[in-house]
Amino acid sequence: MFTAARTSAFTGLRNASTNAFRQQQSRGLKIIAILYKGGDAAKQEPRLLGTVENELGLRPWLESQGHEFLVSDDKEGPNSFLQKNIVDADVVITTPFHPGYINAELLAKAKNLKACVTAGVGSDHVDLNAAVEKGVEVLEVTGSNVTSVAEHVVMSMLVLVRNFVPAHEMIERGDWQVSDIARNAFDLEGKVIGTIGAGRIGYRVLQRLLPFSPNELLYYDYAALPEEASKAVGASRVEDLKEFVSKCDIVTVNAPLHEGTRNLINADLLQHFKPGAWLVNTARGAICNAEDVAAAVKSGQLRGYAGDVWNVQPAPKEHPWRYMKNPLGGGNGMVPHYSGTTLDAQKRYAEGTKEILSNFFTGKPQNPANVIIGRKGYETKSYGQR
Ligand code: NAI
Repeated sequence: MFTAARTSAFTGLRNASTNAFRQQQSRGLKIIAILYKGGDAAKQEPRLLGTVENELGLRPWLESQGHEFLVSDDKEGPNSFLQKNIVDADVVITTPFHPGYINAELLAKAKNLKACVTAGVGSDHVDLNAAVEKGVEVLEVTGSNVTSVAEHVVMSMLVLVRNFVPAHEMIERGDWQVSDIARNAFDLEGKVIGTIGAGRIGYRVLQRLLPFSPNELLYYDYAALPEEASKAVGASRVEDLKEFVSKCDIVTVNAPLHEGTRNLINADLLQHFKPGAWLVNTARGAICNAEDVAAAVKSGQLRGYAGDVWNVQPAPKEHPWRYMKNPLGGGNGMVPHYSGTTLDAQKRYAEGTKEILSNFFTGKPQNPANVIIGRKGYETKSYGQR
């Protein structure tokens, strides 16, 4: 009964000629959210909006409009909340921090699904090509955490280049041997630094690096920056990826995960990096080959690797990126996926999610920047050249 009512409600929504009619007809949708468990922290800190406990602040608003709202962190395996509830859900919300992986198999089961909403930036957890085929929209809160990530990228570069982690560990151990740290510590000043992807985050990284007086700023992206923008940061474009990495002391990855970037940084490409270069990846873990990166850090081909994104999240205990070290015992700046989920960012992506849902319910056009997959397919140019 409920499903039938919902289905006809949505049919009505599509054909409705006025917003008021749409609003009325879109009551009673089933909306599910996969968020991360916040535990005591979420109980004590209500601004942890991206958690199961605080539900993006959406429950009172959604329920006041007659929608059903189910929230869980349970997303893996055949009996998970996600598998069971996607079957008749109208909308799925998830964050990239604890992503509900909406693969083709799951999409095929999702009989009523009209939209996947990413509370954050980066919608690769949805099989986008399958979503196009099924006519499911994929919407995200574009721009909501790009400054948060850009700051984290610059911090990660400093953490690696200045050999910060082993220095801090030495202090905690009660030791003091400056030479053991200083023999692998450098300045950011004078380095050649390049970003793979010069979109919202990549460009903000370049802007933030400029005051450090790098030797050169480079970028690799199939979309050239507008001339004025590249001039403003003094960044040059390199069109061949191997040539690009061979010029950089530090490489940062700021491109989405798609067919063209999955496993992009592998043993073959790592051979073309400058020996002893640093690599920072806050884009997506699967852009880098986990084993190849760990081997490159171990051999010293990479002096260090830092980031917050992992090919599987939560990362298993035995993941090589948790433990990899360079030959001098440093070079690991890995943290859990949190660069884009600062409290400031959570406020922005929670508000943005509400706006996307509100537009969806009333039939108001979405902000074009938020539409990854629209009714007619890919609307973004960021997920590969098509
Ligand atoms: P954006 O769409 O503004 O920019 C992405 C840029 O990457 C575009 O200029 C695009 O042309 C370029 N690109 C795409 N494929 C490429 C390829 N094969 N080679 C080189 N460049 C390529 O996206 P934005 O906002 O800068 O975000 C980028 C990614 O960062 C997101 O897709 C997401 O995966 C990740 N992210 C991570 C967060 C975190 O918490 N760690 C938070 C937010 C985003």
